[in-house]
Amino acid sequence: MAIRVTLVPGDGIGPEVIGATRRAIDATGVPIEWDPREIGAGAFVRTGEPLPITTLDSMRANRVALKGPVETPPASGMRSVNLALRRRLDLYANIRPSRLHAGVPSLYDMVDVVVVRENTEGMYTGIELEMGTPAVEELIGFIASTTGVVVPSDSGISVKEITEHGSERIARFAFGYARANRRAKVTASHKANIMKFSDGLFLEVVRRVAREYPEIDFEDRIIDALCMQLVQAPERFDVLVLPNMYGDLVAELCAGMIGGPAVAPGAHFGGKEGRELAVFEATHGTAQRLAGANRANPVGATLSGAMMLRHLGESAAADALEAAVVEVLREGTDVTPDLRAPDDDRPAVGTAEMTDAVIARL
Ligand code: IPM
Ligand code: MG
Repeated sequence: MAIRVTLVPGDGIGPEVIGATRRAIDATGVPIEWDPREIGAGAFVRTGEPLPITTLDSMRANRVALKGPVETPPASGMRSVNLALRRRLDLYANIRPSRLHAGVPSLYDMVDVVVVRENTEGMYTGIELEMGTPAVEELIGFIASTTGVVVPSDSGISVKEITEHGSERIARFAFGYARANRRAKVTASHKANIMKFSDGLFLEVVRRVAREYPEIDFEDRIIDALCMQLVQAPERFDVLVLPNMYGDLVAELCAGMIGGPAVAPGAHFGGKEGRELAVFEATHGTAQRLAGANRANPVGATLSGAMMLRHLGESAAADALEAAVVEVLREGTDVTPDLRAPDDDRPAVGTAEMTDAVIARL
């Protein structure tokens, strides 16, 4: 029986990289019934909604989605349609495996780090109070009376919130991931020395959960030191678990070490133990200037597709698809222009032709 999967091509280069991924997945022989839906600028133009309820319903019903990059239309009044999607579906765990593949231009020789990012709280609460408003004035008064600290009246204020529940479920997800994928170590990162009641809580909870996984090494790093050590010696790290904003930054830093966001896959998980709902997407943007030009790099999207196959229990197909992508990158003949090192003057190919090369190796 075919597996139903919600398919969101998205905006900009989205339809090309998702189209390529769909073709490659279909070529593995896994029977998938795609359920195409819309999110983003295109959806807003056609339906008046950047995040149509029919798309959310489809994702809830199918429990698995493959998604391209989407644009948040300013006229929609929405802060970020990506964040709204994660929030509405409570996709609390964002997994971004960062593995450097041979043939991809990079400053490094070996990188194999998995970022597990908390995806719903931290600095991303969206609670924003604008300078000069009565709300700020009231909050400043409250802070002065409860802590004695006088916040300057010309402050804009963003609220960061970290919960015990949120920290516990992301910690469990990280250790569960490490166990399932035979990873040896989890490193938690934070700024608990400064933010004792938010990052401090996160660290305390992750430490507690770590004790339930004695076979997995656990350590923690203050976030600035982690960034420094990552760029200096990425081979020291394995699985990283981080609060939302640090996860955003470190995931992008790791993408930079493996050749850039175009080659970096990703997934978001939600529901009980993160098993009930999964949205697979590469981490890059819509790259409007490349849209429709058959120039977009399909690697991040295709590797996200391989992650999806693995999630669906199709591990042989997932391995085959991943191996085919890795082989095409290693050979370096049929790759998009961005994957050419500056000193390599072989002609590049388009998104579609690179995907043909992947399919030929399945
Ligand atoms: C990401 C992106 C998003 C984020 C943006 C698009 C809102 O940077 O997925 O990493 O900040 O989470
Ligand atoms: Mg980001």
